[in-house]
Amino acid sequence: MRKKENNHGIFSAGQKTLWRALRPSIWTLKSDPSHENPALSILRTLHDQPRWLEPYHLYDERGSQLFEQICELPEYYLTRTEDSILTEKAAEIIAAAPVECIVELGAGTSKKTMHLLREQVRLRKGGTFAPIDVSLRSLLASRDTVKRRFRQLTFHGLCSRYEEGISSVDTSLPTLFVFLGSTVGNFNRSEFTRFFLHLSRSMGPKDFLLLGTDRVKEVEILEKAYNDSQGVTADFILNVFVSINRLTKGNFDLKKMRYHSWYNPEWQQIEMYAISTATQEIHFPSYKTFFVWEKDDRILVEISRKFEPLRLQRQLQLFGLNPVGHFTDANEWFSLLLFRKSVS
Ligand SMILES: C[S@@+](CC[C@H](N)C(=O)[O-])C[C@H]1O[C@@H](n2cnc3c(N)ncnc32)[C@H](O)[C@@H]1O
Repeated sequence: MRKKENNHGIFSAGQKTLWRALRPSIWTLKSDPSHENPALSILRTLHDQPRWLEPYHLYDERGSQLFEQICELPEYYLTRTEDSILTEKAAEIIAAAPVECIVELGAGTSKKTMHLLREQVRLRKGGTFAPIDVSLRSLLASRDTVKRRFRQLTFHGLCSRYEEGISSVDTSLPTLFVFLGSTVGNFNRSEFTRFFLHLSRSMGPKDFLLLGTDRVKEVEILEKAYNDSQGVTADFILNVFVSINRLTKGNFDLKKMRYHSWYNPEWQQIEMYAISTATQEIHFPSYKTFFVWEKDDRILVEISRKFEPLRLQRQLQLFGLNPVGHFTDANEWFSLLLFRKSVS
């Protein structure tokens, strides 16, 4: 096991090939010129029909804070249900996945992951923990907790999007990829395929994936979880337009929009919209483009897909991921699915 060092710098670098070779740190790969310009990605999807946004734009500093508040809401059963499964099953999961490294995708503050890290330290005495997230704020919180609670672990945070982060991971170590919070449900169908093709190709024969997925259930429970009485989810969703204005110099006006969400049963997904309350022109002078946002027209800001575990297992098998474990709660509201990369 590598010796732990205390210096946790924040590197901005095109040095991703050196990942893990240097000091424990939080790496940011943001300066990589191959990355898509976020402002352009926003403008492209805003000109699409229907207009929509990629989910990572939601997680600026305030968005990440609001998401943490959502996790505490009484209506938002997802976090505490997944946490309860991990509390009970972390030892079993870690025993089933003999790895040296845990890479967490869309890690946030990694609160629930601490159950897995505790068991990793108990069973294997140490290892590497590498959370990947676009939110530097969340990675810093995660780093501080890991440093305080698990000095035996080497921490390497990667402040990047999933795909760049996954590509920069050292593939020589047996690794458990962890993707919690039903974040996989935020992918639309084409993003889902692209993500699993990339992840599976990056995984070696000793690698595992632990996937947290929210399940199809009563519509009332689902709809309440995304339309809470305190309006935190609405703030979270509409905050994306503050972030968009900052990035694109656009003129979205939060006073001229409202939040609406519903469960689409055919697509088995919650859809979260911003609806224009007046016809308005949205301009992006730096990009010499604009659109007319008609009164009552919608922008699809985020989706949250709900899954049937068996069907998802069969689907992921076709990406070379073999199901080796299924952990759920007493209500069967949420599932943690464990996969092992198949040897082809
Ligand atoms: C739904 S939250 C889940 C957070 C945490 N895993 C949990 O279970 O509470 C999604 C997380 O993924 C991150 N995220 C969203 N899109 C991302 C992307 N394309 N690449 C990297 N991180 C992303 C967000 O910053 C956020 O922390």
